[in-house]
Amino acid sequence: TRPLQVALLGCGVVGSQVARLMTTHGADLAARIGAPVELAGVAVRRPDRARGTVDPALVTTDAAGLVSRGDIDIVLELIGGIEPARTLINSAFEHGASVVTANKALLAKDGPALHAAAGKHGADLYFEASVAGAIPLLRPLRESLAGDQVNRVLGIVNGTTNFILDRMASGGTSYGEALQEATALGYAEADPTADVEGFDAAAKAAILAGIAFHTRVGLDDVHREGITEVTAADIASAREMGCAVKLLAICERAADGRSVTARVHPAMIPLGHPLASVGEAYNAVFVEAEAAGRLMFYGAGAGGVPTASAVLGDLVAACRNRLNGGRGPGESAYAALPVSPMGEV
Ligand code: HSE
Repeated sequence: TRPLQVALLGCGVVGSQVARLMTTHGADLAARIGAPVELAGVAVRRPDRARGTVDPALVTTDAAGLVSRGDIDIVLELIGGIEPARTLINSAFEHGASVVTANKALLAKDGPALHAAAGKHGADLYFEASVAGAIPLLRPLRESLAGDQVNRVLGIVNGTTNFILDRMASGGTSYGEALQEATALGYAEADPTADVEGFDAAAKAAILAGIAFHTRVGLDDVHREGITEVTAADIASAREMGCAVKLLAICERAADGRSVTARVHPAMIPLGHPLASVGEAYNAVFVEAEAAGRLMFYGAGAGGVPTASAVLGDLVAACRNRLNGGRGPGESAYAALPVSPMGEV
């Protein structure tokens, strides 16, 4: 069998772990897929940073050239941000490749257009890694719960802010020090403003709400408040009241079922609640569905290795579909439920 050709865009916190695991787990991946997978090239902005991680012969600074080579089956987009990621993904589709991405910002902004572009070229877009790192969350929402009605998705979906709030709560670490530590550990975005101002969690809320409620929710539909105004004194007084402060993403269907809301803001959680004990950069998400009841998803929500797990899971799915003619997740929207401003539910 011809090896499937994989182009890796970005070799940072997540990309370098994907490259490493593709090499060390190559035989297992091939067995699960039914064909070998080959890293055809690794596009980076700074070649010196990829040194020691991947075979230097594979490294290129010409990402556009790599995705348009014509022989690429799957593109792994792990650059993040809007451009050049969007142009490269579209070019990958035009050249017939399917794309696996962890890019929540781009999906929340342009998901429908990207799915349409993929469809036009018979390609697919996979994005399990875009929300809650290693935690299988989008696939269960989309597939396992497809026969149920989801009414609410609520939880902690940003590892960096959870890490900061956790460190501040245990005392001795300031907001700034905790943010520095989260960055050093590879949890924060390239521009951590996205984390602390709640944009990252809002993008994830938009993706989750779209899948949970089968509708289109964009970043602008999500009410957003980050953690920059939360002080050590706030956390201490919450503690005196028996509460922890957590940044929550809350996506809800209105009681009449005719609209949805999505919002991100700091909230006081009673210490006895399972969300209160979610520490470090872990994520935890509750899903409430009509028949299933209340489900909890918990695990590593950020960091290179855990996120690489989700990317590789999508890579296996993308390769299998490539071989057997199956299709990827596609766009979830089929009903245009209005997204209401918060407060109406
Ligand atoms: N910066 C993100 C977080 C990475 O802290 O959750 C995972 O999406």
